[in-house]
Amino acid sequence: MYYFKTSKEILDFLNKTNKSVGLVPTMGALHPGHESLIKKALIENEIVIVSIFVNPTQFDNKDDLINYPRNLESDVKKIKKIDSKIIIYSPLIKDLYVDNISVKDFNFGFIGSELEGHFRKNHFNSVATIVEKLFNLFKPNRAYFGEKDYQQILIIKNLILKSNLNVELTSCPTVRDPDGLALSSRNDLLSKKERKIAPIIYKTLLNVKNKIKNEQIESVIFKIENEFESTPSLKLEYLEIREALSLKPVKKINKEKKYRAFISAIIGKIRLIDNIEL
Ligand code: PAJ
Repeated sequence: MYYFKTSKEILDFLNKTNKSVGLVPTMGALHPGHESLIKKALIENEIVIVSIFVNPTQFDNKDDLINYPRNLESDVKKIKKIDSKIIIYSPLIKDLYVDNISVKDFNFGFIGSELEGHFRKNHFNSVATIVEKLFNLFKPNRAYFGEKDYQQILIIKNLILKSNLNVELTSCPTVRDPDGLALSSRNDLLSKKERKIAPIIYKTLLNVKNKIKNEQIESVIFKIENEFESTPSLKLEYLEIREALSLKPVKKINKEKKYRAFISAIIGKIRLIDNIEL
């Protein structure tokens, strides 16, 4: 087990080898969704680095940052169980931000300002700032991201192009609980009652997918939004169908193109997101 708190220790370690490197950036509180990325990275690379860092700048809400689940000890155990040769990077803030906790302005345009970008101002600049730091430090051959955060994948692809980084991005399918709820570290914060309600999020996406086969998009979304009014414990923030690559809004389905449905909903104090391909 290789557990490091500073990037320097990892770089010293990597300098002695020419092996291919796969990076899995995470904020910890690991679940089988994260584990699927790690397992994929292990198949495709000789060395795998898992970073565990709750990036403070990407939280627009102070309480969300304070309450974000942190289980370093159990994360380390989980990683060790997958493969004892995985390198864990669990830095303090200063190892990544040094003396300057600042966020770079990447200007991602439309894909950065829509959906999550609209509801969480500067979120994607902060995510890209930290991911770029990780890429520049470890120079991985490949990096692994989950479709659970589909918009984040588009952002990182854009970052790779913009900053001319030599990293191959692999996107991995969303891992769900048997009742359909997408695994998320924030699920740990749901009460028993809230956890029972949460699968409505995925069911809503499936409902959209099913209904747009025979009905106009606008009317499907309007009806579903209205249905949410009768579930006050689950507050719908957005439900949108977008073109998969550009995130442009869609009025009518063109069979040649790819689309996704995106949802964000709040249960109690917990905000959850999900998306599916249509
Ligand atoms: P975090 O939420 O910890 O997620 C780390 C990676 O795991 C992301 O690529 C995310 O999409 C993926 N992931 C989360 N839940 C998943 C699931 N149910 N199925 C498949 N993959 C899943 O995303 C972040 O951290 C941060 O923004 C980060 C990229 C680490 C930058 O701080």
